[in-house]
Amino acid sequence: MDLRLDATVFTTAVTSQSTANGLPRDLFSAIEDLKQELNAVILAHYYQEGDIQDIADYIGDSLGLSRKAANTDADVIVFAGVHFMAETAKILNPDKLVLIPDLEAGCSLADSCPPEEFAQFKAQHPDHWVVSYINCTADIKAMSDLICTSSNAVKIINQIPEDEPIIFAPDRNLGRYVIQQTGRDLVLWQGSCIVHETFSEKAIVQLRTTHPQAEIIAHPECEEPVLRHANYIGSTTALLKYCQQNPQQEYIVATEPGIIHQMEKAAPEKTFIPAPAMNSCACNECPYMRLNTLEKLYLAMKHRQPEVNLSEDIRLAALKPIQRMLELS
Ligand code: 13P
Ligand code: SF4
Repeated sequence: MDLRLDATVFTTAVTSQSTANGLPRDLFSAIEDLKQELNAVILAHYYQEGDIQDIADYIGDSLGLSRKAANTDADVIVFAGVHFMAETAKILNPDKLVLIPDLEAGCSLADSCPPEEFAQFKAQHPDHWVVSYINCTADIKAMSDLICTSSNAVKIINQIPEDEPIIFAPDRNLGRYVIQQTGRDLVLWQGSCIVHETFSEKAIVQLRTTHPQAEIIAHPECEEPVLRHANYIGSTTALLKYCQQNPQQEYIVATEPGIIHQMEKAAPEKTFIPAPAMNSCACNECPYMRLNTLEKLYLAMKHRQPEVNLSEDIRLAALKPIQRMLELS
């Protein structure tokens, strides 16, 4: 037997399956194999890069992802999103392994509400209901009576008796939108999202002059001057559905442009234009969401880390308002 020939064949086989940095050449099928091996489910937010959305078992907004996490029978949840989303999955599934491709994938909105300061704020408003947007840490959830997402915030607030005072945290923009929609007088925590605050009203208005038929669709985390121009305001899932069902052919999309991947898949004949940010920077992309990559997702599944964990007392306290939200929405 010619050993040199065998060695050549062996080397060719190995190098055709893996790249120089040791990653499999076909990451998609390697991830599919790991999915079977781990009995894992991959949940992805619409703001993830296209490849991650394409390999996910479920893609959704924060509410859809929470519902899916609450009902999965997988042993491992691979959460392709930001930390508070994966943390919510862990709160709902303490016995499952919850993985996130990059543990640094945080959220500026969650960071804008530090627990110690929020505890003081809450103490200054005794007898108030505390409704927190899901974009917050488990510590904030643990101090809340109810959680909401961008798709059910109005519905949740409307279910609180009219004479009850309410603190709404952490997003002041969503809070202001909910005040407008419900007529309630909410006490707002002054947090915000760096991505949604970056859209320029002036640039959006200018863009519409060159696309006069385009409709402007916006996430309620955008600031008031941008929302004022919107033909439709909704959560990421609501925006996606709107574009599918509405006959208009052209849309200016004022939210993180990752969602355009699904919009183009759902309505390939339509045109979706990302809303411009101030100073024409690329800061309408969420820098936290974009920390996750297909490579990191593969490595997380291969090494079963980074894992999302939290203390049991905080988990139990945070679970109650999440469960109330799932019952009410
Ligand atoms: P959704 O509730 O639409 O998923 O929004 C989440 C989010 O982080 C928006 O920035
Ligand atoms: Fe957080 Fe904003 Fe990124 Fe959403 S887009 S995850 S609110 S930083």
